[in-house]
Amino acid sequence: METIYLDFRNHENGEKKDLTKAVEALQNGELVIMPTETVYGLGADGLQSKAVRKIFEAKGRKQDNPLILHVADRNMIDQVAVVTSQMEEKLIQAFMPGPLTIILQKKECVPDEVTAGNDTVGIRMPSDEIAHQLIQELGRPIAAPSANLSGKPSGTLMEDIDQGLKQKVAVLIDGGQSRIGLESTVVKVIDGIPTILRPGRVTLEEIQKVCGKGEIDSHIFQQIQKQDEKVESPGMKYRHYAPKTKCRMIYSQDPVWMVQGMKSEIQKANQEGKKILVLALSEDLEKYRTEKIEDILDMGKRENLEEVSNRIFTLLRKVDHYGADLVLIEGVRKEELGLAIMNRLIRACEYDYREIEKREE
Ligand code: TXA
Ligand code: MG
Repeated sequence: METIYLDFRNHENGEKKDLTKAVEALQNGELVIMPTETVYGLGADGLQSKAVRKIFEAKGRKQDNPLILHVADRNMIDQVAVVTSQMEEKLIQAFMPGPLTIILQKKECVPDEVTAGNDTVGIRMPSDEIAHQLIQELGRPIAAPSANLSGKPSGTLMEDIDQGLKQKVAVLIDGGQSRIGLESTVVKVIDGIPTILRPGRVTLEEIQKVCGKGEIDSHIFQQIQKQDEKVESPGMKYRHYAPKTKCRMIYSQDPVWMVQGMKSEIQKANQEGKKILVLALSEDLEKYRTEKIEDILDMGKRENLEEVSNRIFTLLRKVDHYGADLVLIEGVRKEELGLAIMNRLIRACEYDYREIEKREE
């Protein structure tokens, strides 16, 4: 298939783009890769079963892992889902458009392919201008997972997206670097409590402020042992964000302890003859100068979690180029945006994660 490339990397805010080719492709049941403010999406017309099936084939995605529908406005939510509580309404009013996906009761018109047979559907209203315009011009919701092969880090830059995946789509819409660089927060109201199934840019603290309550699902930092275990979000079950190279995370609330823990891991690995790559916070880079490592990559500043969240997928994608045997990664505090960062990194490490307790003074 001849893939059409639309270049909007330097587009002006507010200017209308010519998305005709992408709209036509979607109408014809083809796939497109489109920018959103979180990560790139692999999109299809969300109401055409056959088109939606192509997404699963292209990504190698498990059939039981549902997709989210991207809508342009509040009306479009009502076309495909039912808002059943004040709490859901509050979340929609406060965080949409933006990096939030809400799980709602689905309506009849939503194909089973989208929801993997569930009676709920994930709804997201992107704030990204190109995504918004595309959905609006199509006049129907767009089903889109992150534009990566299943299990791999999500794409935040068109160049980073798998070549094989690009060949399976009709149109590539390049909007430059994704602004947020981390997938949306997935939330579901369970027994009246907004429950985070996947942490993201919209934080637990922000949700609690708006709703008066909020929780995180216990599976966020816990490996699911049995593939048939019942979980709220099927995406939790699968290997995700993982580079080919083995990764391990070391974390302590105390930065000094964290560096010490990292150093003892480095030395142990050196003795085993392993080549080590380190991912460290900006403040700590210098501290590893004396260690024998292949290279060290800058994760961003400890207190600038936005910067860290913006870099992690790019870094995870890079690590396989170093031919290392082990990647050692520093952690950040599991609060606010740090919760989402730790969720992605710990999964990239396939739960190989050591927390060093701060010693009591
Ligand atoms: O930021 C994002 O959300 C990006 C951009 C492209 O919008 N999309 C994205 O989609 O990350 P995906 O498919 O990679 O992740 C969606 C997550 C999966 O973990 C899936 O299991 C969960 O949402 N999900 C979807 N529908 C669900 C449902 N009905 N109930 C529970 N979880 C659901
Ligand atoms: Mg994904």
